Amino acid sequence: MSDTQKTATLSFDGKTIELPMYSPTAGPDVIDIRKLYAQGNVFTYDPGFTSTAACDSTITYIDGGKGELLHRGYPIDQLAEKSHYLEVCYLLLYGELPSAEQLEDFETRVTRHTMLHEQMMNFFRGFRRDAHPMAVMVGVVGAMSAFYHDSTDISDPWQREVASIRLIAKMPTIAAMAYKYTIGQPFVYPRNDCDYASNFLRMCFAVPAEEYEVNPILARAMDRIFTLHADHEQNASTSTVRLASSSGANPFACIAAGVACLWGPAHGGANQACLEMLREIGTVDRIPEFIARAKDKNDPFRLMGFGHRVYKNFDPRAKVMKQSADEVLDLLGIENNPVLQVAKELEAAALADPYFAEKKLFPNVDFYSGIILEAMGFPTSMFTPIFALSRTVGWVSQWKEMIADPSMKIGRPRQLYKGETLRDYTDIENR
Ligand code: ACO
Repeated sequence: MSDTQKTATLSFDGKTIELPMYSPTAGPDVIDIRKLYAQGNVFTYDPGFTSTAACDSTITYIDGGKGELLHRGYPIDQLAEKSHYLEVCYLLLYGELPSAEQLEDFETRVTRHTMLHEQMMNFFRGFRRDAHPMAVMVGVVGAMSAFYHDSTDISDPWQREVASIRLIAKMPTIAAMAYKYTIGQPFVYPRNDCDYASNFLRMCFAVPAEEYEVNPILARAMDRIFTLHADHEQNASTSTVRLASSSGANPFACIAAGVACLWGPAHGGANQACLEMLREIGTVDRIPEFIARAKDKNDPFRLMGFGHRVYKNFDPRAKVMKQSADEVLDLLGIENNPVLQVAKELEAAALADPYFAEKKLFPNVDFYSGIILEAMGFPTSMFTPIFALSRTVGWVSQWKEMIADPSMKIGRPRQLYKGETLRDYTDIENR
């Protein structure tokens, strides 16, 4: 961000206020309204933050019009094709691509932190077997603050670093154990000789009774899903993490808040909701009925996996994900899957419909990720936990950036109050 001489002038009620403006390295200029209340005794009103920059950041940049997503300047399609998840984690956390030595050291540190404190297993066992794995994850991630006391002091950069590595390393173990618990199978411990994605697949699908061999193409697809979800600047769950941590709360509690926010169907829960919708549609002949419902103002139904707050042209992650879906389905020999057929026809029908074109609604990353995950053998309930484990590095990077910023303040929005004004209490017998 560079300071400029540019200002914006705001006139109201006979007052004129000059507001400083800043030019970012990319994206629209911003008007600094921090002194507006002090100078003009007014608030701005922006529920949903559609026009509000809540922080400055150097991590991720999105140009929704161009369909561009950059991590530290590198485009997501290049990272998805040439890099891999842990290297992208390093890039997000530390700002530059690592040297071979730095990468090896980082991978070793992550690998050495994948096990959970043994006492945490009892924590899992307290949940009902039919609990949603996201419910288990919200609880267990929050509970990490009760197990890793030596990395909760946010004023100590070393503890912040240890907490970051622990979260990235242990999240796949937590997600896999949440899954194993809900299907009644024994927990599978992490293995240090596996890469990050293979280790996760192993922890989810291996059983003690037989050897499990990870298919390298599926491991690559898994790694790509992690990479494509790694960060997405100030989305709802990331903003939740930032807001929670602005009070000085410990990192594990803050990331648990992010997991909770991600769970909603308008955010990370959309991948599960999308696949459930495709199953509900069931056959291609029912597609027009569902398209009509999505367009009906009086029907709350929306096409899940379609639309995005920021991308108004295409979602660059969806492009890579679609290609990955084709590769995985080809590898697994899945061609006549009814869900896949419905997905393909629905996509084509929606893209050809003027309603979706006019409102700039395109398939988002969640439209395809569910198809791949189902083909890999994951139940729909695991889709959002996989998103959560992938996004952990984004949450952690944004949290670290925020804590290290000396100008950090507690997040405290204002409101447009529409309630009663001052009135006297009425005794119960007079109401
Ligand atoms: N199906 C049908 N109509 C839609 C859809 C959809 N999926 N998405 C938006 N619209 C319509 C709205 O009804 C609205 O119409 P109107 O202008 O006539 O009132 C218009 O498009 C704009 O929609 P908003 O909800 O105002 O857009 P917003 O930016 O707030 O929402 C969101 C974005 C939440 C992603 C929305 O498109 C949606 O609900 N999509 C389905 C859920 C989904 O796939 N979420 C995943 C997001 S990506 C992620 O988290 C990784």
